[in-house]
Amino acid sequence: MGLAQLPRLVTKDIPGPKSTAMHQRASAIMKGYSSQVKLFPVCFEKGEGVTLTDVDGNVYLDFSSGIYVTNLGHCHPKVSEAVAKYAKTLMNCHDFTTQVKTELLEKLVDVLPGDLGAVQLYDSGTTAVEAGIRLCRAATGRHEFLSCFRDFHGKTGHAVSLARMKPSYGPTRAPGFYMVPRPDPYRPHFTHADGTIDTDAYLKLYDEFLAEATTGQVAAVVLEPIQGWAGSIFPPDDFFPKLRTWCDERNILLFADEVLTGVGRTGTWLAMEHWDVVPDVVTLGKGLGNGFPVTAMVARESFGEAVESISASTSYGGNPMACAAALASIEVIEEEKLLENAKCLEVLFRKRLDRMKAEHPIVGDVRVLGCLMGVELVRDRETQEPFEEAGKLVYQRAFQKGLAWVPAGHILRMSPPIIMDEATAAKCMDIIDESIGEVERELT
Ligand SMILES: Cc1ncc(COP(=O)(O)O)c(C=O)c1O
Repeated sequence: MGLAQLPRLVTKDIPGPKSTAMHQRASAIMKGYSSQVKLFPVCFEKGEGVTLTDVDGNVYLDFSSGIYVTNLGHCHPKVSEAVAKYAKTLMNCHDFTTQVKTELLEKLVDVLPGDLGAVQLYDSGTTAVEAGIRLCRAATGRHEFLSCFRDFHGKTGHAVSLARMKPSYGPTRAPGFYMVPRPDPYRPHFTHADGTIDTDAYLKLYDEFLAEATTGQVAAVVLEPIQGWAGSIFPPDDFFPKLRTWCDERNILLFADEVLTGVGRTGTWLAMEHWDVVPDVVTLGKGLGNGFPVTAMVARESFGEAVESISASTSYGGNPMACAAALASIEVIEEEKLLENAKCLEVLFRKRLDRMKAEHPIVGDVRVLGCLMGVELVRDRETQEPFEEAGKLVYQRAFQKGLAWVPAGHILRMSPPIIMDEATAAKCMDIIDESIGEVERELT
């Protein structure tokens, strides 16, 4: 199907009748669907490249890569064939070595920056984060952690302790976990007299936390390089270099959770490369297997002994299908020059988002790095009051026009597959622009 025919919407109502009926059947049993599914209960049947087709035959353009996962588009032939090969020959053999695992490990440390050379493989982002927590404790002999307001690290015990607790399962933060604010250039806590963000003030506050809140046993600072769940929030450029020095001076580890931002999403293997900072511990997931559950916890070579001590054995981590998916995904990124493509798309996205900000008063802020974007909708640019109602409506409106995506509240989060071509990317931007325009006219 050519771009001119996409998106292709064939039912009068979107989602169509088959989607609606299927969702009703499933949701009678499956509890806890995300807010995005509840607001737009579509039932997908197949995915190919940057398109998704639902059970009614409507074809959408995917502007979120599932949930930051299918960076190479759906069912990339090389990835699908690699998984199929091992689905027929060797699906699981505990954590014994296989050739495909060996090749993946060598490839992974080859593409990652610095001396990130000790790897363990897991099957979800959360379990990789848990491994990172175990490692930081084993490597330092300390047990406490600092993490940041509005970061997200997954849903196991320690991962939820690193983030905001939901009332339905909190307050259960594990002892020794402390949260601190991080600089958000659009909503800063600390600024200089000229209005620019004061990064040093954040670090000064962290020192106060060390002295007043912790017992002085902090093993690591854990944070997302760019906040994903919170709405694609980018740090000021001096934050990570200064935080690296701050950690080094206090003998505290820097743990970057790159489950969402890693493996090409921002046009580099790690988002931290944008600030020339090598973390001590990194977690990767989502795009690593392009849809096949495979994740990694990677640490500096010098932590080899400590990594050894926490043991890598799990039921599924590093199984041959998972390793094949990850190896193929990395190879595709190299062969198809997708880091370069993500950077080229950034230029187009920046231009279009800047224009939206200039034309739509409800657009308070726009941000983009590679193929990771955020558009913040506000009721008033002065007060910056979040415009939740507009966020929901723009989400639904764009979906009805054929854009499959997963914004969050008043922030339109966007993460298209990094294989997308410029013409398709421009078409997706048209849909978003049009939807913001319609909602703005209706609500203001
Ligand atoms: C930064 C980050 N860390 C960890 C996780 C948890 O990953 P998973 O859902 O694969 O367990 C996520 C998931 O969205 C994430 O965005």
